[in-house]
Amino acid sequence: MERPYILHMFTPGRQMSPFDINMAADAGYQVIAPYCEVDTDAIAGLVQDTIFSRSPKGLARTGIFIGGRDALMAADQLDRAKKAMFKPFQVSLMADPSGAYTTAAAMVACVEAALAPAHAQGLKGQRVLVVGGTGPVGRIAGVIAAQAGAEVHLASRGGEAAAKEVASETGKRFGVSLHGASGADESALGAAIAEADVVLACAAAGVQAVSAQTLAAARRLKVAADLNAVPPEGIAGLGVSDDAKPLAGTSAVGIGALAVGNVKYQTQQRMLQQMHEAPSAVVLSFPEAFATARAFIAEKAAKPAG
Ligand SMILES: NC(=O)c1ccc[n+]([C@@H]2O[C@H](COP(=O)([O-])OP(=O)(O)OC[C@H]3O[C@@H](n4cnc5c(N)ncnc54)[C@H](OP(=O)(O)O)[C@@H]3O)[C@@H](O)[C@H]2O)c1
Repeated sequence: MERPYILHMFTPGRQMSPFDINMAADAGYQVIAPYCEVDTDAIAGLVQDTIFSRSPKGLARTGIFIGGRDALMAADQLDRAKKAMFKPFQVSLMADPSGAYTTAAAMVACVEAALAPAHAQGLKGQRVLVVGGTGPVGRIAGVIAAQAGAEVHLASRGGEAAAKEVASETGKRFGVSLHGASGADESALGAAIAEADVVLACAAAGVQAVSAQTLAAARRLKVAADLNAVPPEGIAGLGVSDDAKPLAGTSAVGIGALAVGNVKYQTQQRMLQQMHEAPSAVVLSFPEAFATARAFIAEKAAKPAG
């Protein structure tokens, strides 16, 4: 009998995300086992329990997915899982807490593509302001943009000190330099937007984080992207389906939540399929998500129109 494809899904939270379970089933996993309230110290034991019951052929049909809400904890759990395995007892691993890794990767890849016609060097040297920069998606979007050469500022409603603390913690964890900016009120956010080449709106769903009045302060804005698909739009005037469409009242183009969401969906689907089909173990985190999102966008651009 052929061994079934099994995905063990770990989350520190109380529930595994139904979205991720559906995606795993659609990628071909036949047995999907969610494990909830998994703390980081439990990872090594769970991983070793996973790897010793199957032959190398069976292990190629076994994967581990790490979810949750905390982008830094997921990275720690992925590291622990990697360290708990050794040849030939290795299975594929993927982390995507709250969709943050694939969503942030898709957003930054969309922005890079929108910058490309006028800026061959992409994000290098661009000043990026992440609104809602303290959430899981915002932090990772900031890290990916910084790794691509941008000067990144994470903004928080909690003010500059709170933003700096999150920027420092996140930057240290992933070896990049991140700055903090105040988003405490319209005037503070407007001052930060005035200096930004790129705005990434990563605030909570259903919230307008950048009003028309705040946006009017933008002087050098080239691209604005928004993740909020729940009305009202996260950036005033930026439609959910806009895909590098001129953004009213600015000289920038806007990318909406559904345009990013399509790239995020394809990115997560391709990564799960990669795990499912890999003949030997792979480890997939946000750098791999960014590479996958970039590849998807390049393929789309190369397709003849129509
Ligand atoms: N398209 C997709 O597939 C996909 C996948 C995942 C997430 N998303 C979207 O991505 C966005 C970010 O997700 P997330 O999980 O990182 O968000 P989150 O943790 O819920 O919120 C991010 C940040 O938004 C700020 N915020 C919270 N309430 C706010 C309010 N009422 N007004 C203004 N700011 C507020 C907070 O930062 P401060 O208090 O520090 O300012 C918070 O840390 C959401 O809109 C989510 O729906 C989309």
